[in-house]
Amino acid sequence: MKKITIIGNWKLNGTKNLVKKFSKKINLKFKKYSKFINIVLSPPYVYIDRMRKKIKDKKNIFLGSQNTDLRKSGAYTGEISVNMLKDIGVKYIFIGHSERRIYHKENNKKISKKFKIVKDNKLIPILCIGETKKEKKYKLTKVILKKQIKKIFNLCGKNAFKNSYIAYEPVWAIGSGKSASIKDINKVHQFIKDYIFKKSKINNNYKKNFYIQYGGSVTEDNALEIISQKNVDGLLIGANSLNYKKFLKIIDIVYKYYKNKYNV
Ligand code: PGA
Repeated sequence: MKKITIIGNWKLNGTKNLVKKFSKKINLKFKKYSKFINIVLSPPYVYIDRMRKKIKDKKNIFLGSQNTDLRKSGAYTGEISVNMLKDIGVKYIFIGHSERRIYHKENNKKISKKFKIVKDNKLIPILCIGETKKEKKYKLTKVILKKQIKKIFNLCGKNAFKNSYIAYEPVWAIGSGKSASIKDINKVHQFIKDYIFKKSKINNNYKKNFYIQYGGSVTEDNALEIISQKNVDGLLIGANSLNYKKFLKIIDIVYKYYKNKYNV
């Protein structure tokens, strides 16, 4: 059974107090869910270590970072490296989130370098890809996604996506309250899988260790429908991951779906 991954992205939000309350609730409630679900918590850098110390279940709950620099060390004031993140117990690193592409002008070339340094350090990249509203309007979704993925293959080779995650996050869906339609999620996830597997050296182990998440306005109202699609391996949740009640509600919905599915 392939476990579902639910990733929380706190973005530029949170306090010491929220870390304390949040981890307390997760410690209290997550145990039964871990049968089918892993979670990745990604608070801002300064809270990662605090969160890691407070979280008890280190086998099913992991720490993620929302970003990394593409260099290991040196005179780069204000940056944080993969080595440092690894040092404090981070396992997953977001690469190419649309907010970094937009506000920090990260292009596919820079993103592919970050992806490589994450892989080279045996951490797990979560590559975020997606089209803008305008690109969708002009039916460019597949062209854009291919471009975003291709650069990674060019730099990292045929096995680039082994032990990796892709999060399909339409830019227009993020924080808008309007997620992609189920039909589009299915179609796009299928396209991504086909493209990745076609360009990779595939075997079953590869398939088992490759995940596609959906992200963009995931709520307790749409989580069930999204997660029940065959090409969806998990969710990437922004706003609703800051509120432990909502986050746990979504986890509960996913858990019940799997409990039913596997009849246990
Ligand atoms: P959202 O954000 O759930 O608030 O739409 C998702 C994301 O940016 O990863």
